Amino acid sequence: MSENFDVKLDGKSYLPDPSVKESSWIQDYETAYNDFLKDPEGHWANIAEELDWFRKWDRVKEWEHPYAKWFTNAKTNITYNCLDRHIFNGKRNKVAIIWVGDDGKEEVITYRQLYREVMRFANGLKSLGVVKGDRVCIYMPLVPEQIIAMLACARIGAVHSVVFGGFGSNALHSRIKDAQAKIVVTADAAIRRGKRLDLKTLVDKAVVNASCVEKIVVLRRMSPPMELFSEIEVDFNEILDKEDKECEPEVMDSEDPLFILYTSGTTGPAKGIVHTCGGYMVGTYYTSKYMLDLKESDVMWCTADPGWITGHSYIVYGPLSVGATILITEATPDYPNPGIWWSMIEEFDVTVFYTAPTAIRMFMRQGEEWPQKYNLDCLRILGSVGEPLNPEAFEWYYRVIGKGKCPILDTWWQTETGMHMITTAVGEPMKPGFAGRPVPGIIADVVDENGQPVPPGTGGLLVIKEPWPSMMRTVYGNDERYRQYWSTIGNYYTAGDLAVKDEDGYIMILGRSDDVLIVAGHNIGSAEVESALVSHEAVAEAAVIGKPDPLKGDSIKAFIILRVGYKASDKLKLDLVYHVRMNLGPIAIPSEIEFVESLPKTRSGKIMRRVLKARELGKDPGDLSTLEE
Ligand code: WT7
Repeated sequence: MSENFDVKLDGKSYLPDPSVKESSWIQDYETAYNDFLKDPEGHWANIAEELDWFRKWDRVKEWEHPYAKWFTNAKTNITYNCLDRHIFNGKRNKVAIIWVGDDGKEEVITYRQLYREVMRFANGLKSLGVVKGDRVCIYMPLVPEQIIAMLACARIGAVHSVVFGGFGSNALHSRIKDAQAKIVVTADAAIRRGKRLDLKTLVDKAVVNASCVEKIVVLRRMSPPMELFSEIEVDFNEILDKEDKECEPEVMDSEDPLFILYTSGTTGPAKGIVHTCGGYMVGTYYTSKYMLDLKESDVMWCTADPGWITGHSYIVYGPLSVGATILITEATPDYPNPGIWWSMIEEFDVTVFYTAPTAIRMFMRQGEEWPQKYNLDCLRILGSVGEPLNPEAFEWYYRVIGKGKCPILDTWWQTETGMHMITTAVGEPMKPGFAGRPVPGIIADVVDENGQPVPPGTGGLLVIKEPWPSMMRTVYGNDERYRQYWSTIGNYYTAGDLAVKDEDGYIMILGRSDDVLIVAGHNIGSAEVESALVSHEAVAEAAVIGKPDPLKGDSIKAFIILRVGYKASDKLKLDLVYHVRMNLGPIAIPSEIEFVESLPKTRSGKIMRRVLKARELGKDPGDLSTLEE
């Protein structure tokens, strides 16, 4: 540890500066947690009371394993809480969104402006025939219009399915089809490191054989404007301009779906995780306010894209429901230089910064001189999400970015959980390597295969024992896959992560217990990468594993059996990489490809990835009794 900062190392833990607690929403974690245990429903009702409802609930929770309903018969609209409420409470001219483009161009949008744009686009969607319950796919770069489109859907009760703009056309196609999206909202292009990346051409490919799609709404950012040809293409700004300026929020039942968001599973195609209006709103509002300690006066910068759950919950719905200012940017962390993010923190007075370990590790490599060029005193809270924050990265983040003053929240959660589940509340002792303890409202534990808690220091499976408001309600069109989450270990929700608990109840996440890869904080199914590879004409069979990578968490290695008539070559490797890139997008590209004659399989034909992985890492492959000859 550096001596320059007031860092107190209490055994394994860091005690944050006591001044942090002077104004924190949670004053004492243990009190908050015990209050919840005494009256679990009262805990959630108190939070829900802080939000606006058109009609209050009859019951806080109805639980019939594995199906939960929260705030039954309550009526609300999340956009009312994110927009109208602030507009009518004197915050009309408060800044809602600061956007910075890849080229440094800025846009500042007040709550009033956002409210207006959302209503106009909502009316635009209505004019295209979108009604409550229809699915709208949003495939856009990180521009304010992406958020406007999401909120406009929520305004009228349409279910948005945001697909990250970095995904390729096959990934987009399967998500459009699975959700049976009626509309796709997109843009001509994204801009990355000064280069134009076409999105619309990928949409054109993705909608082939997707007859559910009736219209494609295109935001034209480039000049000269891209021509819109067919009858089904409409201009984003045109539908904004034509319409009425007012759009009353649709009265939504607490349990009506708000959105679908796809996440990778161990097998099969991506799962459409379904979140609802009431419970998700309460969960993201609660954790933004009480965990990230967000105040209206904060400028929150969550560096994710709204195309991931992190963006849904902690760019859009959580911070806007609290009434904070959000910063979003299309800029990459190291372009034009590795100081760009720190310069933005200084320039826009960012107070709450939330990023991923992979980004922190990248900055560590670039050297401390980059952040040291800027005044980062504005920072109050630092967060991390997506994969374990290793102690070295924790220490660097704490010392170099937080100057030993800012609490670091390593937040463990999932697309399926909707909100933070495990972290270290502001002002509590932090233990590097440990995410922390369950959020008040959550009962989490580390158990063995039979659901029995394992003693401290022993690894086990991470489970959640009781339902919570922002839990997913189903997997779209595949409720069986939903039920599996609640039936793998006893009656608990199984997260699919391995973890270990210490004597104080702090939980360290060890990684996935299945074949899901976490590449740069993004969850990627080995099955998805394999099927992209197998769709190439040269590939007979493919198996994909994650290899520990100092920067990305996992890096992808693919083992390939070629079809007869094809020869292994470096050129073919490049072809395969390109093929995966076009199909799934750049994040799913294998860093290594090895051509093999055979793959280890069980007698029933299932590829044993764990054997490949053990061989690759020089480890013991474990029980091989099911391995075929
Ligand atoms: C998986 C969920 C939640 C938003 C980002 C990813 C891993 C997430 C942490 C953390 C260790 C983490 C888990 C989890 N993960 N946060 N703080 N420490 N691991 O969402 O794509 O649904 O992935 O990400 O393995 O199960 P997701």
